[in-house]
Amino acid sequence: EPSDALRRAESLILEIPDYPVEGILFRDITPLLADGPALRATIDALIAPFAGTYDYIAGLEARGFLLASAASYASGKGLVPIRKAGKLPRPAAAVGYELEYGVAEVDVHADMPRGSRVLVVDDVLATGGTLAAAHTLLRKLDYEIAGTAILFEIEGLGGRDTVNDPRLHTVFHS
Ligand code: PRP
Repeated sequence: EPSDALRRAESLILEIPDYPVEGILFRDITPLLADGPALRATIDALIAPFAGTYDYIAGLEARGFLLASAASYASGKGLVPIRKAGKLPRPAAAVGYELEYGVAEVDVHADMPRGSRVLVVDDVLATGGTLAAAHTLLRKLDYEIAGTAILFEIEGLGGRDTVNDPRLHTVFHS
Protein backbone atom coordinates (compact mmCIF):
# COMPACT_ATOMS: atom_id res chain seq x y z
CA GLU A 1 0.00 0.00 0.00
CA PRO A 2 1.48 3.37 -1.00
CA SER A 3 1.93 5.88 1.82
CA ASP A 4 0.15 9.24 1.83
CA ALA A 5 3.43 10.87 0.79
CA LEU A 6 3.82 8.50 -2.15
CA ARG A 7 0.23 9.11 -3.25
CA ARG A 8 0.85 12.84 -3.09
CA ALA A 9 4.08 12.37 -5.05
CA GLU A 10 2.15 10.79 -7.92
CA SER A 11 -0.29 13.71 -7.98
CA LEU A 12 2.68 16.12 -8.25
CA ILE A 13 3.82 14.78 -11.64
CA LEU A 14 2.38 17.17 -14.22
CA GLU A 15 1.42 16.36 -17.81
CA ILE A 16 2.54 19.09 -20.20
CA PRO A 17 1.20 18.71 -23.77
CA ASP A 18 3.37 19.55 -26.79
CA TYR A 19 6.64 20.02 -24.87
CA PRO A 20 9.44 20.13 -25.96
CA VAL A 21 7.89 19.57 -29.39
CA GLU A 22 4.34 19.12 -30.71
CA GLY A 23 2.86 15.69 -30.03
CA ILE A 24 4.95 14.91 -26.95
CA LEU A 25 3.19 14.71 -23.59
CA PHE A 26 5.97 15.75 -21.22
CA ARG A 27 6.06 14.55 -17.61
CA ASP A 28 7.18 17.40 -15.37
CA ILE A 29 8.49 16.16 -12.00
CA THR A 30 9.61 19.48 -10.53
CA PRO A 31 6.51 19.85 -8.28
CA LEU A 32 7.35 16.42 -6.83
CA LEU A 33 10.98 17.44 -6.31
CA ALA A 34 9.82 20.59 -4.52
CA ASP A 35 7.83 18.60 -1.91
CA GLY A 36 10.20 17.24 0.75
CA PRO A 37 8.13 14.33 2.12
CA ALA A 38 6.98 13.35 -1.39
CA LEU A 39 10.55 13.38 -2.67
CA ARG A 40 11.83 11.31 0.24
CA ALA A 41 9.03 8.72 -0.14
CA THR A 42 9.72 8.54 -3.87
CA ILE A 43 13.46 7.96 -3.44
CA ASP A 44 12.77 5.27 -0.83
CA ALA A 45 10.27 3.53 -3.15
CA LEU A 46 12.69 3.82 -6.07
CA ILE A 47 15.49 1.86 -4.43
CA ALA A 48 13.62 -0.36 -1.94
CA PRO A 49 13.50 -3.51 -4.14
CA PHE A 50 17.27 -3.43 -4.72
CA ALA A 51 18.61 -3.38 -1.16
CA GLY A 52 21.88 -5.29 -0.92
CA THR A 53 22.10 -6.01 -4.68
CA TYR A 54 24.27 -3.17 -6.01
CA ASP A 55 27.60 -1.43 -5.41
CA TYR A 56 27.02 1.86 -7.29
CA ILE A 57 24.19 4.00 -8.60
CA ALA A 58 24.42 5.38 -12.13
CA GLY A 59 22.27 8.45 -12.88
CA LEU A 60 21.34 9.66 -16.37
CA GLU A 61 21.79 13.30 -17.36
CA ALA A 62 20.08 15.50 -16.54
CA ARG A 63 16.94 14.76 -14.58
CA GLY A 64 18.19 11.33 -13.58
CA PHE A 65 20.97 13.08 -11.63
CA LEU A 66 18.42 14.66 -9.30
CA LEU A 67 17.10 11.27 -8.24
CA ALA A 68 20.36 9.31 -8.41
CA SER A 69 22.25 11.61 -6.05
CA ALA A 70 19.48 11.41 -3.46
CA ALA A 71 19.36 7.62 -3.92
CA SER A 72 23.14 7.44 -3.45
CA TYR A 73 22.92 9.39 -0.23
CA ALA A 74 20.02 7.25 1.02
CA SER A 75 21.81 3.98 0.25
CA GLY A 76 25.37 5.04 1.05
CA LYS A 77 26.51 3.89 -2.41
CA GLY A 78 28.71 5.86 -4.80
CA LEU A 79 27.26 7.91 -7.65
CA VAL A 80 28.26 7.52 -11.31
CA PRO A 81 27.08 10.17 -13.79
CA ILE A 82 26.18 8.94 -17.29
CA ARG A 83 26.40 12.08 -19.40
CA LYS A 84 25.54 13.35 -22.86
CA ALA A 85 28.32 13.57 -25.47
CA GLY A 86 31.24 15.83 -24.72
CA LYS A 87 30.50 16.55 -21.05
CA LEU A 88 33.02 14.18 -19.49
CA PRO A 89 36.81 14.71 -19.79
CA ARG A 90 37.80 11.01 -19.60
CA PRO A 91 35.09 9.02 -21.45
CA ALA A 92 35.93 5.31 -21.28
CA ALA A 93 33.12 4.38 -23.69
CA ALA A 94 30.32 6.02 -25.69
CA VAL A 95 27.02 4.73 -27.10
CA GLY A 96 24.72 6.57 -29.54
CA TYR A 97 20.92 6.24 -29.49
CA GLU A 98 17.69 7.73 -30.83
CA LEU A 99 15.47 9.70 -28.50
CA GLU A 100 11.69 10.28 -28.69
CA TYR A 101 12.69 13.74 -29.97
CA GLY A 102 16.19 13.74 -31.48
CA VAL A 103 19.47 11.83 -31.34
CA ALA A 104 21.99 11.64 -28.54
CA GLU A 105 25.04 9.86 -27.12
CA VAL A 106 25.90 8.79 -23.60
CA ASP A 107 29.41 8.70 -22.10
CA VAL A 108 30.78 7.48 -18.78
CA HIS A 109 34.04 7.37 -16.87
CA ALA A 110 35.37 3.98 -15.73
CA ASP A 111 36.07 4.92 -12.12
CA MET A 112 34.39 1.82 -10.65
CA PRO A 113 36.23 -1.49 -10.28
CA ARG A 114 35.56 -3.95 -13.11
CA GLY A 115 32.60 -6.23 -12.39
CA SER A 116 30.89 -3.72 -10.09
CA ARG A 117 27.10 -4.12 -9.78
CA VAL A 118 25.39 -0.94 -10.93
CA LEU A 119 21.81 0.21 -10.30
CA VAL A 120 20.74 2.51 -13.15
CA VAL A 121 18.41 5.37 -12.16
CA ASP A 122 16.42 7.79 -14.33
CA ASP A 123 13.25 9.85 -14.08
CA VAL A 124 11.19 8.75 -17.09
CA LEU A 125 11.03 5.64 -19.28
CA ALA A 126 9.50 6.46 -22.68
CA THR A 127 10.85 4.57 -25.74
CA GLY A 128 13.60 3.00 -23.64
CA GLY A 129 16.34 4.19 -26.00
CA THR A 130 18.19 6.11 -23.30
CA LEU A 131 18.22 3.24 -20.82
CA ALA A 132 19.17 0.64 -23.43
CA ALA A 133 22.12 2.84 -24.40
CA ALA A 134 23.13 3.27 -20.75
CA HIS A 135 23.04 -0.52 -20.23
CA THR A 136 25.12 -1.12 -23.37
CA LEU A 137 27.58 1.49 -22.19
CA LEU A 138 28.04 -0.08 -18.75
CA ARG A 139 28.30 -3.62 -20.15
CA LYS A 140 30.96 -2.47 -22.63
CA LEU A 141 33.10 -1.66 -19.60
CA ASP A 142 32.37 -5.01 -17.90
CA TYR A 143 29.99 -3.66 -15.32
CA GLU A 144 26.98 -5.71 -14.23
CA ILE A 145 23.47 -4.21 -14.39
CA ALA A 146 22.03 -4.86 -10.92
CA GLY A 147 18.70 -3.37 -11.98
CA THR A 148 16.95 -0.31 -13.34
CA ALA A 149 14.95 2.07 -11.15
CA ILE A 150 12.66 4.58 -12.86
CA LEU A 151 10.35 7.17 -11.34
CA PHE A 152 7.73 7.22 -14.12
CA GLU A 153 7.01 4.73 -16.93
CA ILE A 154 5.11 5.95 -19.97
CA GLU A 155 3.29 2.87 -21.20
CA GLY A 156 2.50 2.07 -24.83
CA LEU A 157 5.85 3.06 -26.34
CA GLY A 158 7.52 -0.32 -25.95
CA GLY A 159 10.07 1.04 -23.51
CA ARG A 160 9.94 -1.92 -21.15
CA ASP A 161 10.66 -4.36 -24.01
CA THR A 162 13.48 -2.21 -25.36
CA VAL A 163 15.13 -1.98 -21.96
CA ASN A 164 14.72 -5.74 -21.50
CA ASP A 165 15.86 -5.81 -17.87
CA PRO A 166 14.07 -8.42 -15.71
CA ARG A 167 14.90 -6.18 -12.75
CA LEU A 168 13.21 -3.06 -14.13
CA HIS A 169 11.30 -1.27 -11.36
CA THR A 170 9.08 1.74 -11.97
CA VAL A 171 7.42 3.64 -9.11
CA PHE A 172 4.62 5.30 -11.14
CA HIS A 173 3.22 4.67 -14.62
CA SER A 174 0.80 6.23 -17.11
C1 PRP B 1 14.45 12.19 -21.01
C2 PRP B 1 14.23 11.43 -19.71
C3 PRP B 1 14.90 10.11 -19.97
C4 PRP B 1 14.65 9.90 -21.45
C5 PRP B 1 13.52 8.95 -21.67
O1 PRP B 1 15.70 12.74 -20.97
O2 PRP B 1 14.81 12.12 -18.62
O3 PRP B 1 16.29 10.16 -19.72
O4 PRP B 1 14.33 11.18 -22.02
O5 PRP B 1 13.25 8.78 -23.03
P1 PRP B 1 13.43 7.41 -23.82
O6 PRP B 1 12.93 6.29 -22.94
O7 PRP B 1 12.58 7.60 -25.02
O8 PRP B 1 14.88 7.25 -24.15
P2 PRP B 1 16.28 13.81 -22.02
O9 PRP B 1 17.10 13.09 -23.03
O10 PRP B 1 15.16 14.67 -22.49
O11 PRP B 1 17.35 14.60 -21.18
P3 PRP B 1 17.32 15.62 -19.94
O12 PRP B 1 17.03 14.82 -18.70
O13 PRP B 1 18.72 16.12 -19.96
O14 PRP B 1 16.28 16.66 -20.23
